[in-house]
Amino acid sequence: MAITAAFEHYTSIFGDLTLDRLDQPGDWFAKAEDPLKTLWRWHAAEESEHKCVAFDLYQRLGGNHQWRMRWFWYVTVQFSTDVFRQTVNNLWHDKTLFKPSTWWSASKFLFGRHGMVWRVAKPLWAYTRKDFHPMQVGSATLSQDWLQSHSDQWRAVGAPTSSAA
Ligand SMILES: [Fe+2]
Repeated sequence: MAITAAFEHYTSIFGDLTLDRLDQPGDWFAKAEDPLKTLWRWHAAEESEHKCVAFDLYQRLGGNHQWRMRWFWYVTVQFSTDVFRQTVNNLWHDKTLFKPSTWWSASKFLFGRHGMVWRVAKPLWAYTRKDFHPMQVGSATLSQDWLQSHSDQWRAVGAPTSSAA
């Protein structure tokens, strides 16, 4: 449960950041095709919305801070290594791994004015506090705002369609 809670902390941070700064510098999907924008932003809203579930369950089951930290650092190393490995693999197959423009783009994405590293650091570090709770970080309204303002682009699974008899 501590591992799940740690992963969910990462995905909720990335979810919030995906829905933040839309159509401004730092919008990660600004150049994506429209269907991909919708897919990833919907998924971001979904990740943001359930960010408390695993954490609350962990606490309710008596999970302690020390154990939560132990698995948080494990997940941090594992997640970072895996994302790095997959990205390098994709760039290799794309034949763009050794292009200077790839590395310039990556450094801007990570360390630029709206770089991911700066945006992730604070909410990520918040997880190490003893009194941390997922509701303390990110926005409570970003996901709801996006889902409402793009309700014409998605439909809840199982919801009746207008043409249903
Ligand atoms: Fe999730």
